Amino acid sequence: MKFDRYSLTMLTEYITSAREELGGRLVIPAHHYIAPDIVDIADFTGDSYKLAVDVSRTSAEFIVFCGVKFMADGAAVLAKEGQHVLMPEPRAGCPMADMITASEADAALKAINAVSPRETAPVVYMNSHADAKSFCGRNNGSVCTSSNAKKIVKHYLDAGMNVFFFPDYHLGSNVADELGVSPDMTARVYNDFTFETTGELSAVKVFLWNGFCPVHYDFDVEDVQRMRSHYPDGKVVIHPESKRAVADIADMSGSTQFIYDTISKSDPGSTWIVGTELTFVQRIARDFSDRVIEPLKPSPCPDMRKVTLKSTALAVSSVLDYVNGNGSLLNEVHVNQEHVEGAKIALERMIEIVEKG
Ligand code: 13P
Ligand code: SF4
Repeated sequence: MKFDRYSLTMLTEYITSAREELGGRLVIPAHHYIAPDIVDIADFTGDSYKLAVDVSRTSAEFIVFCGVKFMADGAAVLAKEGQHVLMPEPRAGCPMADMITASEADAALKAINAVSPRETAPVVYMNSHADAKSFCGRNNGSVCTSSNAKKIVKHYLDAGMNVFFFPDYHLGSNVADELGVSPDMTARVYNDFTFETTGELSAVKVFLWNGFCPVHYDFDVEDVQRMRSHYPDGKVVIHPESKRAVADIADMSGSTQFIYDTISKSDPGSTWIVGTELTFVQRIARDFSDRVIEPLKPSPCPDMRKVTLKSTALAVSSVLDYVNGNGSLLNEVHVNQEHVEGAKIALERMIEIVEKG
């Protein structure tokens, strides 16, 4: 098999020379959770929102997207005519995205409409399949990411609407809290379409699907307490997919880009306890070796780990073969045409709400 005997250095050299040959026709975006040897050769890195915007602005013909499926699907939905999105590892999914289907979202919204006197906007987290995004686009809703969920939810609440937030219960609950929506004005929605709330269902403003990220669900209050006892001067920064009880006692919370930027601007010698994906925390520690950077608890994302330098080299090599007329593109992403239009509306609505400030 091609590249089987290649070392990491040889793979890096191969990708570097292939992209020189392809010039501006190829870009390699990589999410922050992707392995450092890939991030080091990427054209741009970022959180889910930054990547979606950067990719939507590129004019490159070939986009080798180093991330999980929902991210590459988002890039394919926003791609212009003639652009091709390739996924080095198509088996890299996201368990949270699998926690709701578009038909479940539809049934949940109908159940909400049956108990609430107000109109409800569906807001889907980026970590979802294209059909779920399309459902939101077709129902006056929007996509959101961890960096803008607060702004998107506020947009709808300010318009006097409820929000049905899915699939991540924890991000939605953290956002509701930040917006001052009291717990009795939120309800958890289970996958049998029953509700749990401490208040009156008719008064609920934010309905939250019962999904979660297994990587961030692993963090508990005791982890924060243990790490604080080891590092009393350390600041705790977490990703908002973490549980509300963890978010409540952390010093800061934000997207992967927020976490990277915050630590990059901090003083040399400062100490950080970081509650997010392990490989990313290790890369931050590598990049800022004059600071003490520790994971809140080692919690890797197995799907992000599936993307390797070798699978990236194979995707790049297929682009070279394709432009030279010697083969087809490897693992090109094709989103079901039925979902493209609605998903595009929901993604563009997110960008519009965020960019208008
Ligand atoms: P960000 O948008 O913060 O990069 O989060 C993506 C993700 O999958 C976190 O688990
Ligand atoms: Fe999905 Fe969690 Fe992995 Fe992010 S960290 S891709 S939400 S499983």
